[in-house]
Amino acid sequence: METKFEKKLLCIGAGYVGGPTMAMIAYKCPQYKITIVDINHNRIAEWNSDNLPIYEPGLDEIVKTARGRNLFFSTDIDKGIKEADIIFVSVNTPTKTFGVGAGMAADLQYWEKTARHILQCAESPKIIVEKSTLPVKTALAMERILTSDNNKIHFEVLSNPEFLAEGTAINDLENPDRVLIGSRQTESGIKAGNELVEIYANWINKERIITSDIWSSELSKIVSNAFLAQRISSINSISALCEKTDADINDVARAVGFDSRIGKKFLNASIGFGGSCFKKDILNLVYICRHYGLNEVADYWDSVVKINDFQKGRFIIKMLTAMFNTLVNKKICLLGFAFKANTGDTRESPAIYIAKRLIEEKAELVITDPKALKNAKMDLKDIDGNVKYIEDPYEAAAGSYAIAIMTEWDLYKNLDYEKIYKSMIKPAFFFDGRNIVDHQKLFEIGFNVFPTGKPALTHF
Ligand code: UDX
Ligand code: UDX
Repeated sequence: METKFEKKLLCIGAGYVGGPTMAMIAYKCPQYKITIVDINHNRIAEWNSDNLPIYEPGLDEIVKTARGRNLFFSTDIDKGIKEADIIFVSVNTPTKTFGVGAGMAADLQYWEKTARHILQCAESPKIIVEKSTLPVKTALAMERILTSDNNKIHFEVLSNPEFLAEGTAINDLENPDRVLIGSRQTESGIKAGNELVEIYANWINKERIITSDIWSSELSKIVSNAFLAQRISSINSISALCEKTDADINDVARAVGFDSRIGKKFLNASIGFGGSCFKKDILNLVYICRHYGLNEVADYWDSVVKINDFQKGRFIIKMLTAMFNTLVNKKICLLGFAFKANTGDTRESPAIYIAKRLIEEKAELVITDPKALKNAKMDLKDIDGNVKYIEDPYEAAAGSYAIAIMTEWDLYKNLDYEKIYKSMIKPAFFFDGRNIVDHQKLFEIGFNVFPTGKPALTHF
């Protein structure tokens, strides 16, 4: 049975990155056996069930097609390592919360533990693929651990960063802008890199598969995320100016984005960026620049995070000022909690910050979201305040003083806002952190409307 597969691929870490990425390879390449392992038994049980642990449009279908055929989820990491030819590592690398570099550097403890585990179990040569986003030169650390025991087994470490965005992960994996593979520029390094190229070439045009040395590949991932986040902070910084000058951020973004050198994408002013990657990766970049004494470069990138914090803080000030400088005992409904639409993920979601600050102001919170309520409850479990979680947006908004849009779910674009207005305390306030509703229409219904980066529409 087993011998029918051309290659055996293992992935350590069944998260938002490892799960969808390996499911796509399995879906496209029935000739390979793909096993995904994780130390978290519950997570593996969920991957083997009808309720996958993450929500991602299109993921269910590809998992259902490949699971049991050539895609397997397991907790037997030792066996997985032993039988694999290629091992992808996508364990999490959060920001360090302790010791040197706390709040900035990446916490590499799971990464190192995984490297030692591979060394301990491996009985044959292997290619190790770094999927997790890691500080530059981490592959070198992996190599050193794998060769530390004077063992006879040859390991080749590659960098193959993931560029998928949550909510569109399946499309990003199926039709990527590019796949990047970094290898040592030695004969065996290039050979290993080519082996990985051939895997992706099963469904991706080779022109889009680019290769480089390992360090450039590692750095490119962090820099891509830093550039993307920088665009959001750039437009958000201008949204603050628009609110002061009665300019309209959408008109500005449109005019600016029409310049093909700048481009139209990723210019939506918002309540701030969230997600597991942007802040973490920029902080990594800042940390490494400081390490090399490049303080001006570090400060430059650090300002991207600072503007993001400023944007979130501004939203609260806007709410307070509009609502007569007090939120005490006022019921406020947050529409959305996920860090972006089409995902249940709430990591670094601006909504977490907003919720905590509103509770500090002694407001009563009602949170609604079609996919993220379970995570929202976890995020706010230690909070000492009045918070309710209600899936139905109409029920959530009823009796509130204000509505604040946190996530750009399509669902919120066309709610029956007349019905909602009638059910609220007057004067009713509407704060749109994503600019997704028709502000003029809401104003005409009776709301006092506060968009992002546009003049407010108020009845007083
Ligand atoms: C993670 C990192 O956050 C990101 O930087 C990197 O680019 C890819 O990996 P993600 O998949 O979103 O992204 O993380 P997460 O959903 O937390 O999944 C990591 C998984 O690794 C978890 O399921 C965790 O249980 C597992 N893990 C962690 C192991 O199997 N072994 C470990 O030693 C540590
Ligand atoms: C990002 C990168 O896009 C992806 O390439 C990388 O592999 C991982 O990090 P992700 O964090 O999943 O992906 O989502 P992304 O679509 O980039 O959005 C990040 C945050 O920026 C979200 O909070 C989103 O709402 C916000 N955003 C995005 C804006 O505020 N305005 C925009 O114009 C675009």
